[in-house]
Amino acid sequence: MEKKPIVLSGIRPTGNLHLGNYFGAVKNFVKMQETNECYFFIADYHMLTTHPNPQDLQSNVRQVVIEYLAAGLDPEKATLYLQSDIPETAELYLFLNMNAYLGELERVTTFKEKARKQPENVNAGLLTYPTLMASDIIIQRAHLVPVGKDQEQHLEMTRTFARRFNRMYKVDYFPIPKAYNFDQELVKIPGLDGSGKMGKSEGEGNAVFLGEDPKSIRKKVMRAVTDSGPTEMNQEKPEPIQNLFNLMKVVSASDTVDHFDEAYNNCTIRYGDLKKQLAGDIINFTAPFYEKINELSKDDAYIKKVIDMGAEKARANAQKTVREVREIIGFRKIY
Ligand code: TYM
Repeated sequence: MEKKPIVLSGIRPTGNLHLGNYFGAVKNFVKMQETNECYFFIADYHMLTTHPNPQDLQSNVRQVVIEYLAAGLDPEKATLYLQSDIPETAELYLFLNMNAYLGELERVTTFKEKARKQPENVNAGLLTYPTLMASDIIIQRAHLVPVGKDQEQHLEMTRTFARRFNRMYKVDYFPIPKAYNFDQELVKIPGLDGSGKMGKSEGEGNAVFLGEDPKSIRKKVMRAVTDSGPTEMNQEKPEPIQNLFNLMKVVSASDTVDHFDEAYNNCTIRYGDLKKQLAGDIINFTAPFYEKINELSKDDAYIKKVIDMGAEKARANAQKTVREVREIIGFRKIY
């Protein structure tokens, strides 16, 4: 019998999951855990590029574990773990870095963006972010990586590094993983501030969180950036307006979207109504998560159990990979 593809993905513990994380990634995690061997983790090593203090790091990691579970990840079906519980990742990262070149790392869009946004902290971890990410993926010998559009380039790099290793040592050892969204385009959820992407670091009011209270969601959506309205029939929507429609497409019924689309096209739209509807639909969508997050927050023992269980399984696999990689490279067997 042919083996099912191995699925792996991770999220940085920036605090709370937002709708972008959910529709770009977690929604697919929940689906894929039903049919595949899955590994989902919290990228707490990656978080160190921004120098968080220990208390914040810890509470943010805990929060993401809770939100993973609230979103429907089932520790009986998928392996949930913390990246830092798998120190073998750091060893594989070192090996990959020996064959990762400055030029290709400097060309990565996320690196260039971060370097521009935080010129005072362009650390080596930021530059080698893609090799660490590649280590996360190939250490579990994954095939499919469900991620949003913004991670596409990182996945391309992972493919390059995996191929390069295989070629260099003349082995067919690492599978070549790919970014995955059920054969559809990768998803990009827009923000509320008129910007292209919903993200935690894109500024206040841009992201809506799964665990956000309804009052706050309504306030954010009502403040979303719009313009003075269409002046011609069937005119193209400017980006901030298209963004609101794109958000509506993921949380609202399709006839609701059609209704506002028609109103836009015949210039009768009232943005206040559109926003009210969108806020209501987001609140309905997030309500079950909101409740579940509050419930799980009280159960420390369960959270610890989930993470311990995941670490054990993920680490055993990772140790096997690194043991084999050491042999391939030509090191003495130490495990
Ligand atoms: P991160 O933490 O920024 O985002 C986690 C996941 O959410 C997706 N996402 C979005 N999708 C659509 N629209 C958006 N606005 C949006 N914002 C975020 C991301 O595409 C991602 O799938 N480098 C990764 C974490 C990571 C990782 C890995 C992922 C580390 N190692 C190995 C996969 C495999 C990151 O920073 O994601």
